[in-house]
Amino acid sequence: METRRILVTSALPNANGSIHLGHLMEHIQTDIWVRFQRSVGNECIYVCADDAHGTAIMLRADEKGISPETLIEEIRSEHTKDFSDFLISHDNYYTTHSEENKQYANFIFERLKANGQIEVRSVAQLYDPQKKMFLADRFIVGICPRCKANDQYGDNCENCGATYDATDLINPRSKLSGEKPILKESTHFFFTLSQFDDFLRKWTKSGTLQEQIANKLAEWLDSGLQDWDISRDAPYFGFEIPDAPGKYFYVWLDAPIGYLASFKHYCDLKSLDFTDFWATNSRCEVHHFIGKDIVNFHALFWPAMLKAADFRTPTKIHAHGFVTVNGHKMSKSRGTFINARTYLNHLNPEYLRYYFAAKINGNVDDLDISLEDFVQRVNSDLVGKVINIASRCAGFINKQFDGKLSEHVSTALVESSIAKGKQIASFYEAGDYSKAVREIMSLADQANRYIDEQKPWIMIKEPDHREKVQQVCSDGINLFRIIMIYLQPVIPSLAKKAETFLGVDELNWTSCQNILVDHQINPFTPLLTRIEMTAIDAIVETSRAESNNANEDVQENKNVIETIKYEDFAKLDLRVARILKAESIPEANKLLRLTLDLGEEQRIIFAGIKSAYTTDDLIGKLTILVANLEPRKMRFGISEGMVLAAGNGDQEIFLLEPDPGAAPGMQVT
Ligand code: 2FM
Ligand code: ZN
Repeated sequence: METRRILVTSALPNANGSIHLGHLMEHIQTDIWVRFQRSVGNECIYVCADDAHGTAIMLRADEKGISPETLIEEIRSEHTKDFSDFLISHDNYYTTHSEENKQYANFIFERLKANGQIEVRSVAQLYDPQKKMFLADRFIVGICPRCKANDQYGDNCENCGATYDATDLINPRSKLSGEKPILKESTHFFFTLSQFDDFLRKWTKSGTLQEQIANKLAEWLDSGLQDWDISRDAPYFGFEIPDAPGKYFYVWLDAPIGYLASFKHYCDLKSLDFTDFWATNSRCEVHHFIGKDIVNFHALFWPAMLKAADFRTPTKIHAHGFVTVNGHKMSKSRGTFINARTYLNHLNPEYLRYYFAAKINGNVDDLDISLEDFVQRVNSDLVGKVINIASRCAGFINKQFDGKLSEHVSTALVESSIAKGKQIASFYEAGDYSKAVREIMSLADQANRYIDEQKPWIMIKEPDHREKVQQVCSDGINLFRIIMIYLQPVIPSLAKKAETFLGVDELNWTSCQNILVDHQINPFTPLLTRIEMTAIDAIVETSRAESNNANEDVQENKNVIETIKYEDFAKLDLRVARILKAESIPEANKLLRLTLDLGEEQRIIFAGIKSAYTTDDLIGKLTILVANLEPRKMRFGISEGMVLAAGNGDQEIFLLEPDPGAAPGMQVT
């Protein structure tokens, strides 16, 4: 078969924070696919970069009193080290703040302009007169125009779920200076995406996207494409737009162009031809791995930009869901917002690579890491099954036969394990690593069962059976070799150690057939040890402490609490309620619809707790309801009260629960 030439990318991490479990899941998912492609003999180039532009990075640098250039370089070296310690095999890890990126951004913009796909329009936007800058929604807070809750952001209300324009907020303030923003007009450049409706309808149905994603995009296309505002006013950290002083490309314009730029930089280093991969008639493949939250940028804006500028469009977009830990969103106060470095300080990266592989199935559902399951699964599969095969057989071969494998192996099991390679490869190719791992573990089970049945430790007592012992253990070593070939994309460093032990060249798919007979192996040293739960506890504790330190400043500035009169407090009718039903509202980011049992009656309420709880977590739970709150009409129905929760407003939400024994309807006094 012809060797495929494949370019692969992961989404570009922002240059204003550390690499965490979410990034790791994506990069490990990508890296496994890349290493698999290389193992089967394809040319596979993997590039990435830091996404270095935008207001957040500019403000972060400002806060730290350093230039944005210094900040992004510091972060890039941290990211590069984290990824390389997780064995992510990027061929190039670049930055979007590069000369190549500037050139491609300008080039694409000029092409769009020449095609009549850029329009200049005046936009009225809130502006901070003290900071002298326009404010994105997340930098504006005020009173919700609907429910009158304080401190709501410029685009939606966390309290009642209303969505609105920042200009609708009552008493808006800039988060940056505390000043009242003014409305100011400015010209912006728009990319007329609406002209690409036909093209995108076809492209999104061309097999480039997973079905769930293609369906979602069809809905968006049906509701009409909006033109895309691609410029921001100074001050901004990014690329100034040619012939438009004080206007910058919006970070999301030059971020995906960063894929081209990182690859171009690599081509120049390696004397590769960029156009082989990016010309419209290219025979090479381009694959993007991304999170489902940024599908609009990759499956609408990006192909439209590429098409307009006469580049090829991606072969496939592999979208994935979010990582949850123990059934919840990663949480700083629970200690489950785990940074790459914190993990690495306690555990071997290949444990996590294996666990992710065992769970990634190539669809867009969220992926849960249950910390106990993680420990149990790695210990039982990698240590208990795979490494065990080698350690059981190596002792006999080394001690009894001077490290020499027999001249014959019993081929049935070895041959059937080799034959399985085709199916396992197809699972890797489809991104369904969980099925690949399941098959591989079933081969490991068969190998262990075979050794159990043959009982070399008994046979060795009979001088007549020496040859048989050598053959059984040689079978075992060969099975171990095949299994390690199949697992190599997932656990490459362990595979390297296995090569040394086996005394073989690189373990890759194409070497699978080379059964080892009459072959010298090396002494076996334990390749992997079990994970102890104490390491997990230490990771969680450290992560919690890290987030407490990060929150210290915020705590110090906490507002002074104002007092109220007892009579005011006594007006509250607080009741114990049991959650009978919890339903997700797909259109709402934060709201769940809860059905509550109050003993004598039931209530429906909407609670903004989606970020912290799954619907299954909630069913049967007792909580506290403000029972005499006036019913409120919300976007998705009427809310008949409010449940109480503690939190710090940063996705950390803890529902209040009475001690066991409290019954629905009881008054809270
Ligand atoms: O969502 C993010 O973190 C973005 N920095 C991803 C950019 S991916 C690509 F478009 F560059
Ligand atoms: Zn509101």
